[in-house]
Amino acid sequence: MNVIGLDIGGTTTKAVLLSGDKVKHSVSVTGSEPIVSASGALGKLIEEAKIQLSEIKLVSCTGGGARHIGCSLLGLRTVRVDEIESIGYGGLVLSGLDEAVVASIGTGTAVVHAKRHEDGIISKHLGGTGVGGGTLTGLGRLLLGRGSVEGIIELAEKGKHEMVDLLVKDIVGGPVGNLPAEATASNFGKVGDGTELEDIAAGLVRMISEVVGTVICLAARSVGLEERIVLVGTVPTIKMLGDQIVGTISMLGGRAMIPENASYAVAVGAAMKGK
Ligand SMILES: Nc1ncnc2c1ncn2[C@@H]1O[C@H](COP(=O)(O)OP(=O)(O)OP(=O)(O)O)[C@@H](O)[C@H]1O
Ligand SMILES: [Mg+2]
Repeated sequence: MNVIGLDIGGTTTKAVLLSGDKVKHSVSVTGSEPIVSASGALGKLIEEAKIQLSEIKLVSCTGGGARHIGCSLLGLRTVRVDEIESIGYGGLVLSGLDEAVVASIGTGTAVVHAKRHEDGIISKHLGGTGVGGGTLTGLGRLLLGRGSVEGIIELAEKGKHEMVDLLVKDIVGGPVGNLPAEATASNFGKVGDGTELEDIAAGLVRMISEVVGTVICLAARSVGLEERIVLVGTVPTIKMLGDQIVGTISMLGGRAMIPENASYAVAVGAAMKGK
């Protein structure tokens, strides 16, 4: 029998089809109306995976929008799983680790300590930040006149963040403490007149990656797990952001991995837990 995991997030809704412990199919839809997004993602998944409604045992819902879902959706039985538990569960399952700090980087960022015990996985919310993918699209629209991730990244790839960011070496001429000379001393601290859009875009991606990476690394350090960080959500799957978040964490002495299917981790966690 199949179980579906549905993660109704602030920006996108992800649905995964789980058969046993295997992810058979996954879909993502964009939309902020939770019931429309949930029904749409469910319909798309069933259609693409070519299964019958009668073959589905349960739809396990999580994410901020899950509170709007009743005890059934399109006639299928639903259960609700706490988002923090789904993040922890999904991060451990996809990474194959027994204990880790799992960060979900979506519209905003949530950091969770997850540990496998004899009777299941226990997840604890360590904290997070409102800086995330929503900050990228929001500030992208304001600063660059572009609200699509593809458009912002296209500009950022042509820019140089050091044209807008004040680096440690700009101030002290070399490294300081445990920071290398190339580390950022002040994001956007070097903006002058006539700054190019490409450089602003590069600075924006850099600032978000650095804030998110720093918050995650410090939270992980508070539980002694800075070398076992798992990044999930859609944002780490955008190569430029994923690379820079991992880079920030490693500059701070931590280590982070992005598992396969990272953008579906929370939906996978909900499906596993619901089962
Ligand atoms: N095709 C896309 N559509 C929408 N957002 C995208 C897309 N590609 C990348 N993104 C980025 O991913 C972010 C959303 O990530 P994700 O889907 O993990 O968040 P969410 O689960 O909806 O939010 P949260 O978990 O914070 O409630 C967007 O803010 C945007 O920056
Ligand atoms: Mg999410």
